[in-house]
Amino acid sequence: MSSSVAHSSDATGAASAEPAGSWLDLGSRYIAGGVVSLNRKVEPTVNFVSASGSRLRDHLGREYIDYHAAFAPHLLGHNEPAINQAVQDAIAQRWSLMGSGTTPWEVRLAELLCESVPSLERVQITNTGSEATAHAIRLSRAWTDRDDIILILGGYNGWHNEVARAVMPTLDQVGPRVSPGEYRFLPLSAGIPESTTRRVHLVNFNDLESVEYVMRRHPTACVLTEPVLQNIGVVLPEPGYLEGLRGLCDRFGVVLVFDEVKTGFRTALGGYQGVAGIKPDLSVFGKAVANGFPMGVIGGRADLMARFHDPDPAKRVLIAGTYNAHPVSSAAAIATLERLRANDSAVYGHIETRAARLEAGLNAIYEEFDVPAVVARNASAFCTYFMDHAPVDWHDILNHHDFELDRRLRVALIERGVYAFPLACKQNSVSAAHSEDDIDQTLHATRDALDHLLKDWSRDAL
Ligand SMILES: Cc1ncc(COP(=O)(O)O)c(C=O)c1O
Repeated sequence: MSSSVAHSSDATGAASAEPAGSWLDLGSRYIAGGVVSLNRKVEPTVNFVSASGSRLRDHLGREYIDYHAAFAPHLLGHNEPAINQAVQDAIAQRWSLMGSGTTPWEVRLAELLCESVPSLERVQITNTGSEATAHAIRLSRAWTDRDDIILILGGYNGWHNEVARAVMPTLDQVGPRVSPGEYRFLPLSAGIPESTTRRVHLVNFNDLESVEYVMRRHPTACVLTEPVLQNIGVVLPEPGYLEGLRGLCDRFGVVLVFDEVKTGFRTALGGYQGVAGIKPDLSVFGKAVANGFPMGVIGGRADLMARFHDPDPAKRVLIAGTYNAHPVSSAAAIATLERLRANDSAVYGHIETRAARLEAGLNAIYEEFDVPAVVARNASAFCTYFMDHAPVDWHDILNHHDFELDRRLRVALIERGVYAFPLACKQNSVSAAHSEDDIDQTLHATRDALDHLLKDWSRDAL
């Protein structure tokens, strides 16, 4: 270990560390760019060293009520004892990566997944959501014998070539709203071949006319969409939208893929699809399914999924991965799902009560300060938009949201011990570990932060 980082233990035994400089600076000596996932580089940078339940702790021992949840996996809270115990038990029982045949825990996990989400007739298990969306696209292409795909502007579906487009492009980058019509794929990465992006068609959320427009012009393999856009906050489907998508996919022979990496198991045991009453052909899950341990899931109709083991090599779709269904992640996922299933209404009921209290409290504060704002919420996920209506798509947000107030408020909250990711429009997550006291402290911090921000602004205006 580098001598520039002094390690110690706090009273709870949790590791804490005092960096001689900023972690980002230290990390940059060895880690290209200092962070291992580009979106973790934000200002202000907080040096987190431990986490428990709803709380994060930094290297100076300061606590933060966490609404970031590491981009959403921690549905039951950080270091949930029952999940950690399940992982420890699995190791004690010598569960290991066997790499041959299947294991009882893989079978149990698959059974739990299929029993929890009605559209999952068969599943496959990966390590990440990105792997699962890549498989969903390839499977759809193999099934339909078509190459083009439809994605949603403002959606995020992973880092691989087909889906790595700008999630929050500026109006200059994306251009004004077109309907019906499609938007340019703005690569989020260098190195993506034009031959790939040509096959990808981007339309706005809640815009069925544009979906039909693309389907009429291009032989489309799949529509891959989050059922609620939760990478630009929380943008809910309008009544009839998901039904309309289902209808268009049926009409044009297109595979409907719901990316429930964020909504899955967070909204309800059966995913957002269960709440909406829509059955996609394929679904993809991740994040909350293993409460913070790495896992991705692809599943759906048995006839489509059968392509993963088609006896005809020309039709077979490859599924492979040394670490697929790793025992540590599998143990965590089994424990998470058993907890959610055994105690379904208690966990979801608890989260709903806390999230609703927060939503009502935030709305009251914005009203008190006469700040136009809407708290958009899908179960545990919420986002405040500083505009006079709940947004329907990314253009709506670009045209109406006060990004500067959003960003400044997040920074002011961090200063007051509430960790809202400091990037405008990022979704916040309530977990089962959040207490009523956490919610009330959050509301207190929000009132104080807003009060200071508005006073600063009115002073500046003088
Ligand atoms: C909706 C959605 N799909 C897919 C992914 C990719 O998942 P992973 O980061 O596990 O590869 C994410 C990650 O944020 C996501 O939000």
